[in-house]
Amino acid sequence: MSQTLTVRRVAGALGAEISGLDLARPLTDAVVAAIRQALVEHQVIFFRDQDLTPAQQTAFGARFGPLNIHPYVAGMADHPEVMEIIKEPSDKINFGGGWHSDMSFLQTPAIGSILYALEVPQYGGDTLFASQAAAYDALSDGLKATLERLSAVHSAAREYSAQGHSAQKRSSMSVAEADGYVGEFIHPMVLTHPETGRKALYVNPAFTLRIDGWKTSESKALLDYLFNHCRYEAFTCRFTWAKGSVAFWDNRSVWHFALNDYPGQRRHMRRVTVDPWPEMARVAAAAE
Ligand code: SIN
Repeated sequence: MSQTLTVRRVAGALGAEISGLDLARPLTDAVVAAIRQALVEHQVIFFRDQDLTPAQQTAFGARFGPLNIHPYVAGMADHPEVMEIIKEPSDKINFGGGWHSDMSFLQTPAIGSILYALEVPQYGGDTLFASQAAAYDALSDGLKATLERLSAVHSAAREYSAQGHSAQKRSSMSVAEADGYVGEFIHPMVLTHPETGRKALYVNPAFTLRIDGWKTSESKALLDYLFNHCRYEAFTCRFTWAKGSVAFWDNRSVWHFALNDYPGQRRHMRRVTVDPWPEMARVAAAAE
């Protein structure tokens, strides 16, 4: 395969399919820069017909930033930065089956996630993506101005605590219980993308607990309004996986949702998650 990339948009708000690249091969700096440009412009990008070992997926991800080791989901024994996302035919609950942005529950959230499909069900198992930049753009100037003054508290407690959704109900993945205090981290409700300058909403139903300085009960109405607004279909695109497909999304401006509509079938994916380069993390910290 050559290293000339072709970009085809897949929906109005976000998403583009990129062809012409073999991600298993070492990529030139120019190609990596072009992929990064496509990512920040389209917010989620898709590749087809790839064949990646865990080492090759890791090498690809590491071109975009340091790779995250998930604090609650065990990685592969010899590649701790590679998470296996598996739903067995007998599993009722899938991983990521609700709108969220990865790792917003950390002090320095991940900038991107790269998901590779090894085995997909015969039907179902698509992933939905929603542009939080489009969601922000669609708000009134009044609400935008209000939200820009606010921050929100994020935590893994609801998902990963002993009582949490992820820890309780899945049998096929090694999801550790976050014993006791998992930490609460405050992020602005509107993020300015450090690479594009575009603004996006940064709250999500899985990990955002409340508005900073507000009671949970006071926060509920505004957060519920936003959670509903942010998943409006005009802000979304939908990806149907095949073996060898890769999706790479920008967690700073995208929510995603793994559909759980393939009972009795197996789905096996591998994810690496990209943290910001240290200088980018410092910019984010200074902005908070
Ligand atoms: C995830 O939330 O990272 C999983 C998405 C998927 O399996 O489609």
